[in-house]
Amino acid sequence: MISEKMNAALNGQINKEMYSAYLYMSMSAHCSNVGLDGFANWFMVQYQEEMTHAMKLYNYVNDQGEKVVLEAIEKPPTDFGTLLEMFEATLGHEQFITKSINDLVYLATEERDYATQIFLQWYVTEQIEEEGNDNEIIAKLKLIGNDGNGLFILDRELATRVFVPPVKKE
Ligand code: FEO
Repeated sequence: MISEKMNAALNGQINKEMYSAYLYMSMSAHCSNVGLDGFANWFMVQYQEEMTHAMKLYNYVNDQGEKVVLEAIEKPPTDFGTLLEMFEATLGHEQFITKSINDLVYLATEERDYATQIFLQWYVTEQIEEEGNDNEIIAKLKLIGNDGNGLFILDRELATRVFVPPVKKE
């Protein structure tokens, strides 16, 4: 059992995760368009991860016997400036998502909703990884600067990222 307020907040988070997927898909399209297939792959894997984040919430709301109400997904940008600017925007977006997860945890604590608190712990941990990945790539892009060879090597490295679905709980 979850409250109406909690359900509305979780539904709002589904929309944010769907927007994240849409944003990263748009970034992937941009990278493909400029010939950076490794970066495009990295963002497409990120898109897949975001879809699983949305679906975990979707399943949780259903399991709690509440209704999922889907809202319109905002149109993402299509131009992202330099690669460094694009990853800084990615990090900024993930920090926004981290704050949103923290707000959900706060609400669950306030409502003494222990089940939702436990459920949200997965997202708290996941956000550390999400921000960490972005920080790592930002640091590499700063090191590379305008070096074409460095960019070529990083693009090849990002081409190796594969989507690993989260382990399903029995
Ligand atoms: Fe679902 Fe990237 O946070």
